[in-house]
Amino acid sequence: MPEIKVPFYGHVRQYHSIKKEIDDAILKVLESGNYVMGPALKQFESDLSSYFGTKYAIGLNSGTDAIWLVLMALGIGKGDEVITNSNTFFATAEAIWIAGAKAVFVDCDPKTKNLDPAKIEAAITPRTKAIIPVHLYGLSADMKSIGEIAKKHKLAVIEDNAQSIDGHGPGWKQGEFSDAVCTSFIIQKNLGTFGDGGAVVTNREDIDAYCRKMRNHGSTVRSVHSFGFNSRLDDLHAAVLSVKLRHITKWTDRRREIAARYTKGLQGTSFTLPVEPEGYRHVFHLYVIETPKRDQLEKDMIAAGVDVKLHYPIAIHQQKGFPWKKKAVVKKVPNCEKNAAQCLSLPIFPELTDQEVDYTIEQLVAWDKANGKKK
Ligand SMILES: Cc1ncc(COP(=O)(O)O)c(C=O)c1O
Repeated sequence: MPEIKVPFYGHVRQYHSIKKEIDDAILKVLESGNYVMGPALKQFESDLSSYFGTKYAIGLNSGTDAIWLVLMALGIGKGDEVITNSNTFFATAEAIWIAGAKAVFVDCDPKTKNLDPAKIEAAITPRTKAIIPVHLYGLSADMKSIGEIAKKHKLAVIEDNAQSIDGHGPGWKQGEFSDAVCTSFIIQKNLGTFGDGGAVVTNREDIDAYCRKMRNHGSTVRSVHSFGFNSRLDDLHAAVLSVKLRHITKWTDRRREIAARYTKGLQGTSFTLPVEPEGYRHVFHLYVIETPKRDQLEKDMIAAGVDVKLHYPIAIHQQKGFPWKKKAVVKKVPNCEKNAAQCLSLPIFPELTDQEVDYTIEQLVAWDKANGKKK
């Protein structure tokens, strides 16, 4: 039997750490009688736009919807191409297909795992309309370089920020080099509600107006409609998120502390460790190591009581049945494929204890001594 069990997620621990604030916020919404498009949503949208320093924030019911709504707001759809990386959560590509466009998969940087700016220009064609960099694992993509390429080729940039709220690059903020930032509030995200949620954050009035109308059945005035969808962030979630947003910086700092502890403890092992380029604030949504013996390590860590997970073991273009009659182009993506084959995520969340982190390190070091190839 393992000495201790280290969980992968800490949702309930987090709830308990701010229980009174959460309970009060939920109760307030329950007693208000306003549950959809009510004051709690309005308040959260205002909190979120202030937090990002943008003019607008629109609450939606998922991060996936945020991406395809922005694509549609920009008029991107059939016949258009959108560049992204294939070592991301499936939803990034899914959103491109929902909008009706063609997904063009470009390789990631071997170190940061984010979209490699050096590979983008070769994938641009007259039909290319946008780039969607994903801030994978919590590290912002190289937005400055991507922004420059986009400007040169007159392309839109949509940040997939589902994993990297509270992060930034050297001297720049998220949203500075893009048309919109899309984020997800599903429970396991760094800013997560007790269910699903998402948002678009932007300075563009046209994107704000489009998403606001489209999320509510094409309506901004009662009984007056045009074509639209139902993708609203419920007030209960909005109220929870306003509370949690007040804690996000402190939580990120704790994630960074845990990451530093892992990085120190795993020095000298054969694992490839995450990098944080100079000046970036990596928010460590995930702490992902790589090893060629990943499947073995996964099995052994779970047997040792450490719950590890894989993000993402099958690159999008490697999924069975790809591309399901949707439009897609796959460039040479060896780094994405290696990432899929070797990635393994360690437990990381703000409420994880140092003892749990140290136990995880101990298990990894012992495993590496027995199985790893020395560097
Ligand atoms: C990188 C990335 N993009 C998009 C999404 C989609 O967000 P959601 O699950 O809220 O639709 C997620 C997470 O779920 C994600 O990790």
